[in-house]
Amino acid sequence: MTVQSTIPAPHVSDTKVPVHVAIIMDGNGRWAKARGLDRSAGHVEGVNTVRRITEAASEAGIGYLTLYAFSTENWNRPQSEVDALMHLIGMAIERETPDLIRNNVRLTMIGDTDRMPPEALDRLNGCIESTSHCSGLTLCLALSYSARWELAEAVRRISNEVADRRLAVGDIDEHTVSRFLTTASMPDPDLLIRTGGDQRISNFLLWQIAYSEIYFTPTYWPDFTKEQFREALDSYAGRERRFGLTSEQVLSDCDGATSP
Ligand code: FPP
Repeated sequence: MTVQSTIPAPHVSDTKVPVHVAIIMDGNGRWAKARGLDRSAGHVEGVNTVRRITEAASEAGIGYLTLYAFSTENWNRPQSEVDALMHLIGMAIERETPDLIRNNVRLTMIGDTDRMPPEALDRLNGCIESTSHCSGLTLCLALSYSARWELAEAVRRISNEVADRRLAVGDIDEHTVSRFLTTASMPDPDLLIRTGGDQRISNFLLWQIAYSEIYFTPTYWPDFTKEQFREALDSYAGRERRFGLTSEQVLSDCDGATSP
């Protein structure tokens, strides 16, 4: 039996530069420990990497860069580390805002951000407002974010739509779910990078990475360089994305897209 899906096959693009790169920034603590430093020293150095990689993403012509800066699970870390991270994020965002504007970078955030301390949240919202006119790279910070939280939230909101008769159960499809996620205004990531050596997803963008290419590197986040970021982009450029199709179908789709 052939089941006809109502969901169109994802468009197979022949572009070699990813539109959306998402990064799990891992290894700050181990970087610090290896130097006999406090874990927060790793986070401080990690902010320098955020600046460097944001710049590299802009230079490469990437449209969206989503950084996993603080997970829902990170709230369970020692309070002193949570406080230091929140302070650092607020300070860094305020300090970097003029440069973000100068570089035409627009800041956005996703996550259960109402849980953020008011001081950090005010600074983040100030930066989001100040950069809202920027039309280059969109830098999206995932803060107090977890994919399971996001999916549960989407189910709750879709259920409300159904209860209020604004949505029929039979009309719910993959596009509906995508529209109710925090990432609704962004394309799905083309490339997911994780630094720090572990090879897992850690509750990050579980729905959105269905067809993302994944790149793991052992380099700790504070040591991650522009050059290494470009190596990840090169690895992406060398891959064939098939989205469940055959290689032949992908090639003929690309021919079709490029022929007059
Ligand atoms: C994971 O390393 C990293 C984090 C939990 C925090 C990442 C946050 C930053 C780099 C600051 C971001 C700031 C801005 C302005 C976006 P880990 O502590 O889990 O390292 P480990 O696995 O070696 O212990």
